[in-house]
Amino acid sequence: MKTLQGYTLKPSLLAGKTALITGASRGIGKAIALEFARQGVRRLLLVARNRDRLNTVATEIQEIAPEVEAIAIPVDLTDTSEVSIAMAKAWRDFGPIQFLVNNAGVAHQTSFLSSQPHQAEKELHVNLLGMYTVTRLIARRMAAKQEGTIVNVSSLMGKIAAPSFATYSATKFAIVGFTQALRSELSPKNVRVVSLLPSLTDTDMVRNTEFFKWVAPTTPERVAKALVTGLNRGENEIFVDWQSKISAIASGTVPWLMEKVVSLAAPRSESQPNAKPGYSLGSA
Ligand SMILES: NC(=O)c1ccc[n+]([C@@H]2O[C@H](COP(=O)([O-])OP(=O)(O)OC[C@H]3O[C@@H](n4cnc5c(N)ncnc54)[C@H](OP(=O)(O)O)[C@@H]3O)[C@@H](O)[C@H]2O)c1
Repeated sequence: MKTLQGYTLKPSLLAGKTALITGASRGIGKAIALEFARQGVRRLLLVARNRDRLNTVATEIQEIAPEVEAIAIPVDLTDTSEVSIAMAKAWRDFGPIQFLVNNAGVAHQTSFLSSQPHQAEKELHVNLLGMYTVTRLIARRMAAKQEGTIVNVSSLMGKIAAPSFATYSATKFAIVGFTQALRSELSPKNVRVVSLLPSLTDTDMVRNTEFFKWVAPTTPERVAKALVTGLNRGENEIFVDWQSKISAIASGTVPWLMEKVVSLAAPRSESQPNAKPGYSLGSA
């Protein structure tokens, strides 16, 4: 441990570790990768579909932290067999992996009555089954090593359901439950499982979104810093700011009040049954 003017500085719990981050080609995943590099990880495994974007992120990492090895793993999380092969190879060639961040996700904003089954299927497949497949393969290996941390990226919409995001909210609530269950199961194996619950963040995902009233977007960099702070503090559910935490607590204690507030804040067109067809966010 180093000391600075009488204070003891704890070494980052990420220092010298290997981390695999899904959805690392842009947005919050990219910001987490860059923040982890600043925190001194040894190796970053970057997962998403777009190889070129992953390579660009790897180059940016090398520029800010030349000692960090950044490896692009292009894979589509909806292709279960492809994911299984890629994860097994990643562990064999670059493991052991101490940090897994299940961040990849898609969202479709639409009034429920205009929603399309293929959009809901995509959300379920990427947000839930994709996370499940990656976690199953990595968690077993972490458990065998008796070491690891898994971060599942939910959302404030995983605590406060939002009109016009019904299936997306459903996936994010499910991630909170999945995370709680795994936390109990894996803690005897020394594998920590936490959730990250960002609020509205300025990324491709929300480019054409009709925002809720009184909500200003934060930055992906702020989300990444909140994650590192939360990990260092040993938090199980990591919020980006105190306002999010208070809102989540209010939703659990006075749900009728939060439902009223959310309904007032919801975008008008999308909260109406005859609203225009939904638009896709963050999915290709
Ligand atoms: N932005 C927000 O306001 C917000 C708020 C709360 C929570 N979140 C959550 O934060 C996470 C990241 O969101 P973001 O805002 O950073 O979104 P984003 O900018 O749209 O990025 C999504 C990431 O997921 C990857 N991805 C999408 N489909 C994939 C697939 N089938 N296979 C592999 N990778 C796939 C994308 O890469 P490719 O396109 O290259 O595959 C990209 O790297 C999501 O789980 C989201 O639900 C976001």
